[in-house]
Amino acid sequence: MSQAGADSLAPEAVEPLLRGRFGRPYLYERECPSTQALVLGRGLPEGAVAVAEHQTAGRGRLGRRWEEPPGSSVLVSVLLRPPSDRRPPELSLVGGLAAAEAIEEVTGLATQLKWPNDVMLDRRKVAGVLAELAEGEVALGIGINVNQRREELPADAPTPPGSLRTVTGRAYDRAPLLATLLLRLERAYDAWREGGLDALYGGIGARDFLRGRRITVDGQAATAVQILRDGRLEIETEPHVLHAIESGEIRYAA
Ligand code: BTN
Repeated sequence: MSQAGADSLAPEAVEPLLRGRFGRPYLYERECPSTQALVLGRGLPEGAVAVAEHQTAGRGRLGRRWEEPPGSSVLVSVLLRPPSDRRPPELSLVGGLAAAEAIEEVTGLATQLKWPNDVMLDRRKVAGVLAELAEGEVALGIGINVNQRREELPADAPTPPGSLRTVTGRAYDRAPLLATLLLRLERAYDAWREGGLDALYGGIGARDFLRGRRITVDGQAATAVQILRDGRLEIETEPHVLHAIESGEIRYAA
């Protein structure tokens, strides 16, 4: 990071770095309950984003909280209006792939995707994605743990958490990471609009964290086979008995 404490996601730090359509307009709050609520139902153009330094009621998947110390993370919601022939839940993987690519660009390290919405770096969850749908609009929320220290990460998370800092040992400027994320997301979203998940499958399949692992799905034991081309997770519950699941709480043996 350039200067301890100077790192900011204020418009003057981020807007000059934006290279695509996403991020216009760029809504910024120092603190808000959840950036998700700032983009839905307001008639904003597709690609509008809301960003906060801190959320007081950050939302995670399956009704969980998403918590972070102020100024430590990238917390962003992007407004999307997907075409009616696409399945909005697939956007979790689209957002996950964009976050994975942005983290790789900034850290130089390989990431993985833990189906359906987690980005893993060195076996730690460093980012999560939440797609919330309301009347044809999607708030695609992405949280990236950037500069938290180990003791600032949630102690009771179901997937072992990390931040870019705990994994790599250095702090990062969040503004270039956010600008890179928005550009990667725009490219991934455009490809998905045109060709569905199939168009992104190379990047998703190559980063499949669960592939071959023993897991539980909502408490039931199984083996993860692979993320399928349609975005579902293929699991094996008994030898040669395969199922494709659309959602569920996945835990894995570390
Ligand atoms: C998860 O892994 O459970 C999903 C976490 C999503 C967190 C992001 S942070 C920005 C946006 N605002 C929220 O309240 N949640 C998402």
